[in-house]
Amino acid sequence: MFENLERLKVVLAKAKTEAAKVIIGQENVIDMALIAIFTNSHALIEGVPGTAKTLLVRTLASLLDCSFNRIQFTPDLMPADITGTNIFNLKKEEFTLLKGPVFTTFLLADEINRAPAKTQSALLQAMQERTVTIDRQTYSLPDNFTVFATQNPVEYEGTYPLPEAQKDRFMLKITIDYPDTEGEIELANRMLGDASPEAVLCSGTIKPVIGSGELALLRQSLSDITVKPELIDYIVGIIRKTRSHESVLLGAGPRATQALVLSSRAFAAISGRDFVAPDDIKAMAAPVLEHRIILRPEFEIEGHSITETITDILTEVSVPR
Ligand SMILES: Nc1ncnc2c1ncn2[C@@H]1O[C@H](COP(=O)(O)OP(=O)(O)O)[C@@H](O)[C@H]1O
Ligand SMILES: [Mg+2]
Repeated sequence: MFENLERLKVVLAKAKTEAAKVIIGQENVIDMALIAIFTNSHALIEGVPGTAKTLLVRTLASLLDCSFNRIQFTPDLMPADITGTNIFNLKKEEFTLLKGPVFTTFLLADEINRAPAKTQSALLQAMQERTVTIDRQTYSLPDNFTVFATQNPVEYEGTYPLPEAQKDRFMLKITIDYPDTEGEIELANRMLGDASPEAVLCSGTIKPVIGSGELALLRQSLSDITVKPELIDYIVGIIRKTRSHESVLLGAGPRATQALVLSSRAFAAISGRDFVAPDDIKAMAAPVLEHRIILRPEFEIEGHSITETITDILTEVSVPR
């Protein structure tokens, strides 16, 4: 019965090894992206330009044998630019659908907060239902459809911050930082030879670690990971605490509870275990809660951060013995 779970653990380990041939460092970021994919969820990626956000999603798409598309969100991007549109074919004298970039498996939505709400909603509907509606006709997207949406933390001028309800649809917020000194030296050296990250990715040395159609099967095997009842209580305790903590204006909703259960299970699998440990839940708390909590203005003004609030909550909620 647990063959698939064993296979999943092998696949996750191989995916990390292969990804490391392209991406220098960023192990935790790669883990979080794999967790989003293997729980059939979507993720926000936050990081300054040039920190390998695009390279990360392209690399994972190639490793998991999935198609990839990227959309650059701009203030004039329209819903049809994402979904596609029907065009009249003069030869056939009929309308044919010109599919948009959303018809893919891994979609990188770059700088999603630069497009107006109408266009954001077109993407968020696709995320939620894995369908798109064009001229009142509904089209299905692949079961493995996964969105990685980036937001640029710097440029908030002329952007349309995602509403809370929309942010809640992203299981995780992945924060990507500059590579460390060693990593940057390695990156520089790699540019000298023919082993630049892009060259490695396009060279074909990176082989898919799963067969097509295997992703759904491996995802199911996560249900073989044990989550003790007291850990469910622990998770619910953490989420509910976000709603009563003194620094919080708006705490996390029930989707955060679902996200913390599912992501902790996937984190256990990535760590090679058949059961969830309290540390898995602690490791997933920030990526699951960072984009779901709003601080009271008075705390924000004093420079209090959401990360501090989450750390606080993790010390206040006792780990079950
Ligand atoms: N950790 C890293 N590993 C490998 N390449 C990196 C890393 N960080 C940055 N790069 C390089 O920097 C460039 C920008 O990467 P890209 O994915 O386009 O960044 P982003 O999408 O975050 O703006 C790429 O050429 C990539 O090779
Ligand atoms: Mg990019």
